[in-house]
Amino acid sequence: MNKIRAAITSVGHYVPETVLTNKDMEKLVETHDEWIVSRTGIKERRILTNGEPISFMAVEAINMLLERRGIKADELDLILVGTVTPDMFFPSTACIIQEKIGATKAWGFDVLAACSGFIFTMVAGMQFIESGMYKKVLIVGADKMSSITNYKDRNTCVLFGDGAGCVLLEPSEDPGYGIMDNIMRVDGKGGKYLNMLGGGSLNPPSHDTVDKNWHYVYQDGKIVFKDAVKGMADISVEIMQKNNLKAEDIAYLVPHQANMRILTACADRMGLPHDKVMVNIHKYGNTTAATIPLCLSEYWAEGKIKKGDNLVLASFGAGYTWGSILVKWAY
Ligand code: UT7
Repeated sequence: MNKIRAAITSVGHYVPETVLTNKDMEKLVETHDEWIVSRTGIKERRILTNGEPISFMAVEAINMLLERRGIKADELDLILVGTVTPDMFFPSTACIIQEKIGATKAWGFDVLAACSGFIFTMVAGMQFIESGMYKKVLIVGADKMSSITNYKDRNTCVLFGDGAGCVLLEPSEDPGYGIMDNIMRVDGKGGKYLNMLGGGSLNPPSHDTVDKNWHYVYQDGKIVFKDAVKGMADISVEIMQKNNLKAEDIAYLVPHQANMRILTACADRMGLPHDKVMVNIHKYGNTTAATIPLCLSEYWAEGKIKKGDNLVLASFGAGYTWGSILVKWAY
């Protein structure tokens, strides 16, 4: 029996209009444009200032995706949302999006995997296509990091921004194209280096958790940096070797955008020239679950991705969670 393979058949994205530049950051904390650019590659980030939650950004991104594919929301079977900043703990943002876009026939749920939220969600969604159960699965990565960022903490506030991206998965017309392979990992030992301690059942919200800044992102940047370089590079090289791919066979590395130095280190280990790395960190910073679909949607719109291109999607983040996906672009 021929294998059904899932393929990306449309992409969409949204970023808010409000720009927070490094000069703006200099007014908030003791920092400099030069430090931020040289240590992270970030020049500015977008912030959602209209009081809306992530479902607002997700709906904008989804509308772009649906229009590009020429389909209506009521044709969707499943909506999966990777995020660490859902509209609220429950109901899930998948339910909120389902109602907002009128996806009358779809069900869905949220996936919590931090910076790897998009790739974990994509691998989860892919199963419903490969099993033959569904024909149209929507994968969303969206985060409003400004809602959990402490703008008094220079170690973290310069890093993050808001945004949303999405891809549509459908059965590939030709099984030679689509999602070819994936390698996914978690290691809970990394949890103490990157987290948000407050608000869950361990530390329910209280005056004390607010006073301790436990409703903001905490990161031990140095340790996470080292682990991210190794984790993302190892798993990207592993998927190349597993599939007998050389650097010249790969059109793009599509990495989670946490730090420009992590992206280039990963490309170097893969033997890829830096112009084969998708980058938009300079414009948007780290938008957590949104970085990878944001890159895909922008590069596709600029005509830079072609049918048959081999892409390696790779990510590393809180958990720790990390992984790589090999995609042969299908359209
Ligand atoms: O997306 C999930 C995964 N996350 C990541 O992969 C992020 C991983 N970590 C990083 O990207 C980097 O570690 C950071 C960008 C967060 C920090 O860069 P770094 O080169 O590791 O800097 P550092 O933490 O070693 O700090 C160097 C110095 C310190 O000063 P001292 O102690 O040497 O005097 C910091 O206090 O830079 C200082 N510093 C800053 N200075 C100006 C830290 N943040 C800032 C800042 N502006 N915003």
